[in-house]
Amino acid sequence: MTYNIAVLAGDGTGKEVTDEAVKILKAAGEKYSVAFDFAPALIGGCAYDEYKTPLPETTVELAKKSDAILLGAVGDWKYDTLPPDVRPEKALLGIRKALNLFANLRPASVYPELTHLSPLKEEIVSGTDIMIIRELTGDVYFGTPKGIEIKNNEKFGFNNMCYYESEISRIAHIAFKTAMQRNKKLCSVDKANVLDVSRLWRETVSNIAKEYPQVELTHMYVDNAAMQIIKNPKQFDVILTGNIFGDILSDEASVLAGSLGLLPSASLSDNGPALYEPIHGSAPDLKGKNIVNPIAAILSTAMMLKYSFKRDDIYNCIVNAVRKTLKDGYRTKDIEQSGMRTISTSNMGDIIKDNILSSQ
Ligand code: IPM
Ligand code: MG
Repeated sequence: MTYNIAVLAGDGTGKEVTDEAVKILKAAGEKYSVAFDFAPALIGGCAYDEYKTPLPETTVELAKKSDAILLGAVGDWKYDTLPPDVRPEKALLGIRKALNLFANLRPASVYPELTHLSPLKEEIVSGTDIMIIRELTGDVYFGTPKGIEIKNNEKFGFNNMCYYESEISRIAHIAFKTAMQRNKKLCSVDKANVLDVSRLWRETVSNIAKEYPQVELTHMYVDNAAMQIIKNPKQFDVILTGNIFGDILSDEASVLAGSLGLLPSASLSDNGPALYEPIHGSAPDLKGKNIVNPIAAILSTAMMLKYSFKRDDIYNCIVNAVRKTLKDGYRTKDIEQSGMRTISTSNMGDIIKDNILSSQ
């Protein structure tokens, strides 16, 4: 049995971090006798340069027939002047929709070795372990009608925040199931005091809660949630929310961990391959310097093993190898610390790899 992995490195430092992630998958495969086959394809600005579209049909086809997708990052300032429809970011939205990747899992956990990195007080962030579950293929991101028109003799811009009940319930089931495997606490975030779409959200989530009596469900308005995540992050276990609120809250929560370079993500579908990517961007200014942190991409492969291939044993092995590497004092530039050794992107990958191969 061979797992086929589509590798969409993308732009900027995407290639550097996916190279390390592939290195780790190969090492884990060697240790556990799992075979991986890697097929590269273009996405983002580099795809635009080649095909005049950031998401070529060939890339979508390759992704669809893979067992899982590893993505680096897209975007570069040099594409900022392109029309919105062919910007690199459009490829992300396009692949999410094309593969029905409606469930976005963004863990925000704080490593004990790195609590000092957060701009928040250590006693507030230490021990934080939140799983944000963001709906990814609906909401104001994809709602219609949308556009910019002339109305009342002036320009008028509009989007539509909308959800079908079925879209809410399928993501809610994922959130409840995730909570069941964690501390059985789920906080659903909405704006039901103002928005009709949020009232449907809240009603639907509350109905589904009856199927998961062991999970303690709470609801929170998004403005309050934004405050609570910073004030007392440890109160959260799983957070469930829609696309736009999840976009904002997951960036906010990433601050708890101190560096974007540490945080992985998974985007799951219920009928096809899932996509795994670091939550950081392409950092084009750092490209080619071999200094960015590959840990987020490496942990994304750990998530791949857990969610796509049901290999919790290999997931644990990779996570433990990363933790040992940090404990042993190795740091990349973004998490540099006095008394610790600052190493390159590829060195970080090598040390984590050695820790995987030498683990029990
Ligand atoms: C993210 C990003 C994307 C989003 C952008 C780049 C389209 O911010 O993955 O969170 O808004 O979803
Ligand atoms: Mg975002």
